[in-house]
Amino acid sequence: MQRNVEIYPSIMCADLCNLEQSIKNVEKEGIDTLHIDILDGHFSPSMPLGLETIKQLRSVTNLKFDVHIMSTNNKFFIEEMIDLGVEQITFHIEKESHVDRYIQLIKRNNIKVGIALNPATPISVLDYVLPECDTVLLMLINPGFATDKGEQQVSYAVKKVEDMSRMIKERGLSTKIEVDGRVSFDSIPKLVRAGADMLVAGSTSFYDKNNSLKENKAIMEKRIAEGLHEEAIR
Ligand code: DX5
Ligand code: ZN
Repeated sequence: MQRNVEIYPSIMCADLCNLEQSIKNVEKEGIDTLHIDILDGHFSPSMPLGLETIKQLRSVTNLKFDVHIMSTNNKFFIEEMIDLGVEQITFHIEKESHVDRYIQLIKRNNIKVGIALNPATPISVLDYVLPECDTVLLMLINPGFATDKGEQQVSYAVKKVEDMSRMIKERGLSTKIEVDGRVSFDSIPKLVRAGADMLVAGSTSFYDKNNSLKENKAIMEKRIAEGLHEEAIR
């Protein structure tokens, strides 16, 4: 049976001055999950969405929230998101001393848990906690620099996804791989073939300004199918 690869639009790439309409536009395309970035300005020099904004978004949509925390204070934001009611909480390992503690806290609240890795962070840091994770989020750009057009996908993006997929398979796990950062029409087939299960879709795909959201979603689906086909015949 063919793998299901999901599209998670990154709301920080939408029209932030008309957020409720941006959400309705995502709903109209039949997407069921929104990628929501929480950046505290310390982990990375960026702060696209405030906490109160995210809380208000919760009240205007039933979309699932896939929350990606980029903060030096994971405890605070994890607890806030647990209270809010979200589908998945992903936090970075690089600035966290109590990784296992927060994985258990999220799981105890029946929320899917992911660990996020910056591009240069080796996947070996997941050695002991991978079986506890529903998802591993691989950042393919340096987090927080999404609006810096000079920030391109790292050259080792596909290899890192392949290595992560191999580690999951070798351990007989069903952990999902989420990729985030310049997931473009061109890079989708290679990332899917390498093992990506969820695509965070931003400025170079779902929110590509050259087409409508409907057209962008259709192009993404075509590229996903190409990647799955290449995976099947290899
Ligand atoms: C980066 C965020 C990403 C970002 C992806 O700081 O984690 O979710 O919005 O946007 P693109 O695809 O434009 O890099
Ligand atoms: Zn993200």
